[in-house]
Amino acid sequence: MRLAAVADIHLKTEDHEKNVRAFTAVNELADALVIAGDFTNHGLPEEMRACLAVLEQVHIPIIGVLGNHDHESGHQDELAGLLRVAGVHLLDGHCFEVNGVGFAGTKGFCGGFSPYELMPFGEGGIKNFVEIAEREAIKLDFGLEQLKTPIKVAIMHYAPIKETVVGEPEPIFPFLGSSRLQRALDKHKPAMAVHGHAHHGTFAGESKGGVRVHNVALPILRERGEEHPFTLFTL
Ligand SMILES: [Fe+2]
Ligand SMILES: [Fe+2]
Repeated sequence: MRLAAVADIHLKTEDHEKNVRAFTAVNELADALVIAGDFTNHGLPEEMRACLAVLEQVHIPIIGVLGNHDHESGHQDELAGLLRVAGVHLLDGHCFEVNGVGFAGTKGFCGGFSPYELMPFGEGGIKNFVEIAEREAIKLDFGLEQLKTPIKVAIMHYAPIKETVVGEPEPIFPFLGSSRLQRALDKHKPAMAVHGHAHHGTFAGESKGGVRVHNVALPILRERGEEHPFTLFTL
């Protein structure tokens, strides 16, 4: 399978024609397109509608997760509904299979990377925060568990490992991802994991258990000189 992937489109509505041209190319180049969150800037339904007006030109299956920006205005359920009605396979602990390749995904959350991840100790606020991160990892674990395909791909918005956020200021690393997601990857050993969120991170890394991880945030792809607003993998 030829898989196209991108995250952090943060689609600008004024560039509609340019965006349509850029995304239409994916129909010829790939069998499926992964969008790993941050479709919008402020999580507004009109932003998502503009985004879908571009994505309706894509005729291959689109599989995605929401990002933190898609949650910004509290309309994440409406945004998720818009994506699903448009035919996007939005994963939030779910899975999806196409051409023998299985996809499991969730947004993920922050909390930091082993051995310095935040622990659920002390105030209720800290415990709630860590619980959100743990729940996201459980959702990824559950999604991967359901897949019976020989090839599996994990999709997250937040990073599961530190290596692919390197390039961002070090003090913000704990806000960019969580090792709890890595543990789900290492349990199920998908062929590949993709994420975004760390716009100035690093394209390639590997989990402790040897799972290949790619940060496909659009600014990183641009920096790498990608011709299109996505990168291509062969599975
Ligand atoms: Fe982003
Ligand atoms: Fe983000």
